[in-house]
Amino acid sequence: MEHYLIKTYGCQMNIHESEKLAGMMQSLGYTETDSEDNADIIVFNTCCVRDGAEQKIYAHIGALKKLKKAKPDLIIAICGCMTQVNGRPETIKSKFPFVNIIFGTHNLNEFKKYIIQFKANRKYICDVWPEARYLDEHIDTYRTSNNNAWINISYGCNNFCTYCIVPYVRGRERSRNFADIIEECKDAINDGYKYITLLGQNVNSYGNDIDDKNVTFANLLKEIAHLEGDFRLKFMTSHPKDLTEDVVRVIADEPKIAKVIHLPIQSGSNKILKSMNRNYTREKYLSLIDMIRKYIPDCYISTDIIVGFPGETEQDFEDTYNIINQVRYDGVFAFMYSKRDGTLASKMDNQIDIAVKRERVNKLLAQSKKITKEKNMEAVGKSYNVIVNSFDAINRLYNCTTDSGKSIVVMADNLDINSFYKVVVTEFSKNKLFGKIGE
Ligand code: 5AD
Ligand code: SF4
Repeated sequence: MEHYLIKTYGCQMNIHESEKLAGMMQSLGYTETDSEDNADIIVFNTCCVRDGAEQKIYAHIGALKKLKKAKPDLIIAICGCMTQVNGRPETIKSKFPFVNIIFGTHNLNEFKKYIIQFKANRKYICDVWPEARYLDEHIDTYRTSNNNAWINISYGCNNFCTYCIVPYVRGRERSRNFADIIEECKDAINDGYKYITLLGQNVNSYGNDIDDKNVTFANLLKEIAHLEGDFRLKFMTSHPKDLTEDVVRVIADEPKIAKVIHLPIQSGSNKILKSMNRNYTREKYLSLIDMIRKYIPDCYISTDIIVGFPGETEQDFEDTYNIINQVRYDGVFAFMYSKRDGTLASKMDNQIDIAVKRERVNKLLAQSKKITKEKNMEAVGKSYNVIVNSFDAINRLYNCTTDSGKSIVVMADNLDINSFYKVVVTEFSKNKLFGKIGE
């Protein structure tokens, strides 16, 4: 029996695409392993959103040199966003001549063909398409995220935020066919998945490239939420410039939609937002938060922030810092700006010193940690929808997670694993939430 190992870097889109790669390899008779020594094929599904990710990936590929020498038949394949960057396939090949197959995001579907071809003649394959030739439909997906099924609703991005490399490596936005998405959701629900998470770089612009005014994100959410079955619906990522009141109302009205919104702000300074080409102001963003909380008072809201964008002054940073105190996010993902070749921001003056970026990111993360802790204390007495993940028989405790992924330890008798319950939080201690069944 032959084995595969996939190393996945980056976002949920990549995690899901690795499930497609796994499905393809399984259909060729491979089974999964978590040991490099045991693997006959190792795939690196890469990310290039920040330089840190790329450097880590280079180090991990380099570490395979010895193994490949000892096991010359081992196939090493590299795919994902990094291979779509101009010149990267050549760099990878020259640094690591032992790599066998390189392909890109637009031809993920062709992986099976490349494996068969490589096994037939053992000749190096490098095939990276500059753009998509078809939508990735009907791939055998091998889902690996427990009770969650990731489902793409669109690929690519049209926004060209000036720091971001995604539009260059993922191409223009392509929305999937409405009926195909619904079918995939139905299949996942019938297969017993409890969470459906819709994926797109900007889910709110779903359907803008389809010539039918009923094909909108709000209608898609509504239709999925009305499917039969016991499940919760989630989605990511929302862009503040496109998140509309009708979408928020659908989330509020539909019991099967999780009350969870990831809404990246990136910066709290209007000057920086403009320079980032985000197309909203701090005031517009804050009014969106008010609108969300008007319809969904207990909505879990998280965000992404970039610190140290070119030209960011102490005052600009203060504006961002103040926003996290004002919004009191449930989760903050803060990153130091990383210069990406080919993007507009990489050519801007006033690039910020790494030490300043580090100081700012640490300050932001420390504050958001403090807020998260306060929010956990405020959770006592509140009711949450949870799913039961496992049972700790020794202590007779159930490990549960809320729709937003927060852990709650529940003391109860005879709960069903992988089922939903309503739980009231009774205590927050030692950084853990405890609860009991009840509304
Ligand atoms: N540098 C730092 N962070 C970035 N992101 C995207 N591009 C960059 C970059 N060049 C962050 C954004 C985005 C998240 C997925 O990654 O905050 O929302
Ligand atoms: Fe990148 Fe902006 Fe598109 Fe998000 S919306 S993928 S940050 S260009």
